[in-house]
Amino acid sequence: MSNLMEKIVSLCKRRGFIYPSSEVYGGFGSCYDFGPLGVEMKNNIKKAWWNEMTKFHENIVGLDAAILMSPKVWQASGHLTAGFADELVECKKCHKRFRPDEIQHPRLSNLTSGVCPECGGELTKPRKFNLMMKTFVGPVEDEASLTYLRAETCQGIYMNFENVLNSMRVKIPFGVVQIGKAFRNEITPKDFIFRIREFEQMEMEWFCHPKEADKYFDYWLNERLKWYENLGIKKENLRQVEVPEKERAHYASRQIDIEYKFPFGWKEIEGIHNRGDWDLSNHSKHSGKDLKYFNEETKEKYFPYIVETSVGVERSLFAFLCEAYQEIPGGRTKTTKPTKEVEILLKLDKKIAPIKVAVLPLVRNKPGLVKKAKEVYQILKPHFVCQYDELGSIGRRYRRVDEIGCPWVLTIDFDTLKDNTVTLRDRDTMAQERVKIADLVELLKEKLSEAKPRPLS
Ligand code: GAP
Repeated sequence: MSNLMEKIVSLCKRRGFIYPSSEVYGGFGSCYDFGPLGVEMKNNIKKAWWNEMTKFHENIVGLDAAILMSPKVWQASGHLTAGFADELVECKKCHKRFRPDEIQHPRLSNLTSGVCPECGGELTKPRKFNLMMKTFVGPVEDEASLTYLRAETCQGIYMNFENVLNSMRVKIPFGVVQIGKAFRNEITPKDFIFRIREFEQMEMEWFCHPKEADKYFDYWLNERLKWYENLGIKKENLRQVEVPEKERAHYASRQIDIEYKFPFGWKEIEGIHNRGDWDLSNHSKHSGKDLKYFNEETKEKYFPYIVETSVGVERSLFAFLCEAYQEIPGGRTKTTKPTKEVEILLKLDKKIAPIKVAVLPLVRNKPGLVKKAKEVYQILKPHFVCQYDELGSIGRRYRRVDEIGCPWVLTIDFDTLKDNTVTLRDRDTMAQERVKIADLVELLKEKLSEAKPRPLS
């Protein structure tokens, strides 16, 4: 793990973003739990994505389908066959498994080195391992009760294509969005929360006329890139990679991966796929139900093509954290001598920062200040995710809130007791302004909406 990665992982645990799952038992299979700050940040990302799709675009409706579905869904979608499998080699000596791309020959990129990177043992030929997680429904564990935890959320959308058409009176082109858990029995989970076995996906399936799929593919790719930039990811840390045919997902006739420059290299954070009529035609064939679309005006009947945008909540959260993480040797304060300490600043976009406002009494041994600070906290709490903190010197507390990316800090000082004003500190500029307690809620609401919603497109 790189030094920077280690620091981010450590910050995540220290400040309540992410903990290893089942830690008292030594952790469990690359699963992670999101702590009090992690869950707020995750919720903010999901809200930003949902708003982006359903409020700032036309003709998109939401769905929340069950995780458990008929195993026939996965048969028809191609996930039970070789299409959804990782190729792996195994060391004959220590029995560790590797993806061929992890053990590439140092000079020949199309060849594996043939040697185990852990113990130098001989490696087997590559074999396919299916990634679907099995489970049983009902009391008897046999073939008849076998099903799978969904490996992608979008299959629930295809299952409800007709229901949505009939109940919502939507017309092609239209989109259906869903956010939910997906599971993959990844053989080589790695890089903290980058590749895990249980994760959440935010997927949008855009049903359109086959002739318009290319146009919408470009449109959605562009929109998705803008979304990341709007939430603070620098243009130079994003790139699009056209995936060649032999590396594409089995359902995709075109695939562009949006990649982010993580500390461990450029990696996919989102996939844009032209799934053509792969899903609807296969589900029609396997179920016997005609899932073609009928255009009343033109009398044309056809399988719509699907343009998909698919991103993992954890993976995007990880990218936002990496982008926001900054270290300032000696600290940012220019008014005092630089200390030897390195200060950490998490410059998260205000919309996704987990805690929006921190309320701090200047000192905690003055009951009047503490009482007033708690009153201010109670005024703000119904409106914003806030934190009250009285432990340690005011400088230390400022540093703690910078470390969790909290955009605003309110300090209750002796003037507050005289004139009911507080200082409001901006995380990024460290500028302080004096604000009336009575104006706080409106002012902070305004500042939060400063991060303007995207215009309709
Ligand atoms: N429905 C299309 C689909 O699932 P994918 O490229 O397999 O496409 C889309 O996955 C996104 O889901 C990825 O770009 C990534 O953000 C996230 N994702 C996939 N597997 C993941 C894993 N094991 N851990 C975390 N996120 C994952």
